[in-house]
Amino acid sequence: MVSTPSRSTQKAWAKAIGKPAEEFDLTSLSIQTGAIPTGLLGTLYRNGPGRLERGGKKVGHWFDGDGAVLAVHFRATGASAVYRYVQTTGYLTEAAQDRFLYANYGMADPQGVWNFWWRVLTKQDSLKNTANTSVLALPDRLLALWEGGQPHALHLETLKTIGIETLGVLQPTQPYSAHPIRDPLTGEIYSIGVDSQANLHLYKSDRTGQIKKQAVIKLDGLPFIHSFALAGRYLIFFLPPLAMNKLAVLFGIKSYSHSLEWQAGEGTKILVVDRETFEIVSRGETDPWFQWHFGNACVEADGLVRLDLVRFTDFDRTNEYLREVATGVTHTVANGNLWEVRLDPKTAKIISMQTVIDRSCEFPIVAPESIGQPWRYTYLALERKSVVDGSEFFGAIGCFDYQTGTLIEADLGENMYTVEPLYVPDALNPERGWIVTIVFDGNLERSEVWIFDADRLNDGPVCRLALPTVIPFSYHGTWHCSVKK
Ligand SMILES: [Fe+2]
Repeated sequence: MVSTPSRSTQKAWAKAIGKPAEEFDLTSLSIQTGAIPTGLLGTLYRNGPGRLERGGKKVGHWFDGDGAVLAVHFRATGASAVYRYVQTTGYLTEAAQDRFLYANYGMADPQGVWNFWWRVLTKQDSLKNTANTSVLALPDRLLALWEGGQPHALHLETLKTIGIETLGVLQPTQPYSAHPIRDPLTGEIYSIGVDSQANLHLYKSDRTGQIKKQAVIKLDGLPFIHSFALAGRYLIFFLPPLAMNKLAVLFGIKSYSHSLEWQAGEGTKILVVDRETFEIVSRGETDPWFQWHFGNACVEADGLVRLDLVRFTDFDRTNEYLREVATGVTHTVANGNLWEVRLDPKTAKIISMQTVIDRSCEFPIVAPESIGQPWRYTYLALERKSVVDGSEFFGAIGCFDYQTGTLIEADLGENMYTVEPLYVPDALNPERGWIVTIVFDGNLERSEVWIFDADRLNDGPVCRLALPTVIPFSYHGTWHCSVKK
């Protein structure tokens, strides 16, 4: 049986991930409060781990759960939703046998080292591609992304899994990250992937997703690069001082998560790459820190790159906290804060770096038309002001206004939890935008879609829609507008 911590030690957020998610077919959503904005026309997609157990066994880490994708279609006639597990080879094989069969980010091979080696020698997948991290909406298909492997293509409306996606060129050894960046000015899509030979693959796609240019940069060691930033003509990489015990991973003795070791005495490496040529512009090094996510980046009038990110003191605590999330109880405090950085792209030297929000926060985002360009507002998931012990999940949405230096926030209330908020441009009025997120109501044990006016976050949601089942916390999402521009 799965061991469950006693309720007295669990916070209400744990109920969002306590049971495997239940899929549902296309279902009309009922409005709980307010009204759907008339300019909200398109589809919200979100991806995250839908199940954290199989056959009475728990996953090793929150990142190990099988990907499940939610689509919420907003049409002039109302909203409807569909929720589906990505039908990966690993998911189908494990579902058929009702037990874990593959190694994963936080799990060594559940069938032992010899099985791991048998898979390697017979050229079978030794790791499960969980397809659980993010989504990329292309004109004719949706991609479910996982940074250790290739994307899976899904049907935009039904979420039916079509299969592995190569974007025209990807080989099985070429991972495609879960953090592609779409340039709003050109429609080009940039992405990366780090393979087991420490090659950093760079990809540039046109707006259809077809990869038009790729290059490889050889790195030292085996860096952990979850995301990067687009700043005008540059791609910016911060490589945290993490060393991987490659032998332990390659021989199947340890999972990736257990093989990553924080090198406290070393710095974070900086890499600036020209987005057109994929040539290295500069390399540098600075103080050590770890980040999962950037908010945005741009080149300012003085030629410096300005960017923001959520910075953690080190990797070990944030990784351990994320492992604990899957158990339903967290003990480790790992607060990330929003930082603003200015760096010289010609020399990769940091000119200034300062804390912008000193409360625990994550998933910084900006309006899509501001990506890579100068911007004013960064939105993110935020710890409620009243939280004191670090064991709560995000219960507020913040908007930091860099022009006025103020934080505007929406506190969702007791036992109400948000995932990454997304900025959705109004399809009918370019001056307006909406913040859309999925909220888990830990009091009533149900999930809802919440919509805020991006300019009036602290007024509370303008609309709440009930979802048919609990949607476990997702990592990342995207918006696909249905109005032709
Ligand atoms: Fe991420």
